[in-house]
Amino acid sequence: MSKEKVPGSETIAVHWREEPLIRPQPEFVGQSNVSDPSIFERFSEDNFPECFDEYAQMLTWYKSWHQTLDSSNPPFYRWFVGGEINASFNCIDRHLPKRAGQVAFHFVPEPEDAPLVSITYQQLYWRVNEMAAMLREEFGLQRGDGVTLHLPMTLELPITMLACARLGVIHTVVFSGFSGRACGDRIVDSQSRLLITMDSYYRGGKLLDHKIKADEAVDHAAEGGHTPEKVLVFRREPGKYASDTPMHDGRDVFVDEILPRFKSREIEPEHMLAEDTLFLMYTSGSTGKPKGSQHSTGGYLAYAAGTSKYVLDIHPDDVYWCMADIGWITGHSYIVYGPLVLGTTSVLFEGAPNIPDTGRPWRVSEQLGVNILHTSPTAVRALRKAGTEVPAQYKYHFKSMTTVGEPIEPEAWRWYYEAVGKGKAVITDTWWQTETGGHLLSTLPAIHDMKPGSAGPALPGIYASILDDQGKDIKPGTSVAGSLCIRNPWPGRMLTIWRDDQRFIDTYYKRFCTNAESSDWRDWPYFAGDGAVQSADGYYRILGRLDDVINVAGHRLGTKELESSCLTVDVVVEAAVVAVPDEIKGVVPEVFVSLRTNIEASEEIEQRIKQAILDDIGPIAKPRNVWIVPDMPKTRSGKIMRRVLASLSAKKDPGDVSTLANPEIVEIIRVLVQK
Ligand code: WT7
Repeated sequence: MSKEKVPGSETIAVHWREEPLIRPQPEFVGQSNVSDPSIFERFSEDNFPECFDEYAQMLTWYKSWHQTLDSSNPPFYRWFVGGEINASFNCIDRHLPKRAGQVAFHFVPEPEDAPLVSITYQQLYWRVNEMAAMLREEFGLQRGDGVTLHLPMTLELPITMLACARLGVIHTVVFSGFSGRACGDRIVDSQSRLLITMDSYYRGGKLLDHKIKADEAVDHAAEGGHTPEKVLVFRREPGKYASDTPMHDGRDVFVDEILPRFKSREIEPEHMLAEDTLFLMYTSGSTGKPKGSQHSTGGYLAYAAGTSKYVLDIHPDDVYWCMADIGWITGHSYIVYGPLVLGTTSVLFEGAPNIPDTGRPWRVSEQLGVNILHTSPTAVRALRKAGTEVPAQYKYHFKSMTTVGEPIEPEAWRWYYEAVGKGKAVITDTWWQTETGGHLLSTLPAIHDMKPGSAGPALPGIYASILDDQGKDIKPGTSVAGSLCIRNPWPGRMLTIWRDDQRFIDTYYKRFCTNAESSDWRDWPYFAGDGAVQSADGYYRILGRLDDVINVAGHRLGTKELESSCLTVDVVVEAAVVAVPDEIKGVVPEVFVSLRTNIEASEEIEQRIKQAILDDIGPIAKPRNVWIVPDMPKTRSGKIMRRVLASLSAKKDPGDVSTLANPEIVEIIRVLVQK
């Protein structure tokens, strides 16, 4: 009998029990941007695609669109056809009559004794304009050109993005924690004319040399056949160079030496077409070279605005803090573009949440009056691990909180709700992807009840389905999981993969396209690559990436289901489940967990974990081993690298782990499991 998983078999059995619903607080509902369920009628399939005009109307256009959606050439869609707009104008200029003196960003440096820098919308206007003037006049950048930004979480990053947007220059932001080589690959693929970087920044309690990566990036890009014309170097402290790496004569320039020449210059924003490219954001899938998610100006911005308003429920007078990095799509949509379009005040935090201690996020929230917190399951688990009682010592007040990036285990969710939200803040669990530009599944926080561990129903105007391996709909409430798909186009979706239309079709549309000749979008469901199950009330629960599904003797198990079970053991704060080869069953699960601080590993804990899995899922899921480890190998964005754990368990070489956030943990785990 073949032990291989059936190719394309997307049906996964689910053993999860339903979690009880939790009602949103009445005070929250009273102040919400949308509490009337009729929004779902406005955005019903009968009103598609014109329903999305509502989001576009949240923006200021130079010229209105004459067609909401041109879907004549699927899966290449054009939204708001004929419309002309500028993203920088929408994020800044249009707020000046009413809100010039309002703070746009509170920049919080990592060192706690360094002063807070607050910048108003008026100041943001001047800084973006002088930067745009410099880029155009000193460096000759024009509409349609590309630049790569390898900048840390400082004000210079959103300022430079908005300066690019003002000129119609396509920005590619590379997460500052990425290596020079990763940056170089993106410079080549995006054909960037400039690399914009910084000498150094604070992270994890240290001042890191960042300029060194620029040299590696340019060398690596040159090997790839493309050399940027110049490298622009901001100094973390203007005038004070803090890198050991010398400046490269004729190529590298200090921004703070040139910028003063452009003081008080104003640059008329370019009138961009709705479908012109605003930026590229690279995603590294499990195979192949990184894909440049190419995002539009009008559709993307409309979708970021609509979801910021209805899902994050942002108001102009909120103080909003998204703890993600701008180097990810979350930061693009929900630190920069969405919140600024709505004219709110945001916190921009340079550092790690545990520097100098895990009280830092709550002190910042208390001091700045943060009332909306946006973070990830991995951050929630890390804060919980460090001490469940810490948030209680601070007097901040959150009205809403968000989680994004991975499924959150119900236990971690409850801690977030009780300890961080103090039982008073609503939680929205937002499911989406780099490719989707904005949220697709989530509760609307004043309309739906919360369900721990479930992202919630599909958002207005998003028609989601769970398909089996034949592409047939799996009915809600059947406890059978499948492949999560979105049946329709939406404005925030990427235009294509940069310079690779075929890969775009192959990755996201080939799997379930019913007729490749068809010019009807209904034949082109978007394949997200996640396993999910829908309960009878329409809420979706994400099981994780389909690639991570474990097939035990023909029985397919989602990793998150087992991991959630591990977290029901109260001392467990993180769990990762991987498949290891087994002679009889093909593969069996193996469990890695990390415990709360100050809890010792013991046989008894291992037994309790095995019992929890037995009780929740059954003998089929019995793990071969339970390994108690100090930490999990994680990507820079906080996702657990199950593939690395799986190779260690299988006694294989985990390959190149240098891009992990914590590569040193790999050897520690290897010694443990391969002894
Ligand atoms: C993948 C996309 C979207 C911004 C950050 C990640 C997983 C994301 C959730 C959630 C369960 C989630 C999915 C998805 N994911 N949010 N709320 N619940 N899973 O962007 O790096 O493009 O990753 O992250 O597996 O496909 P990304």
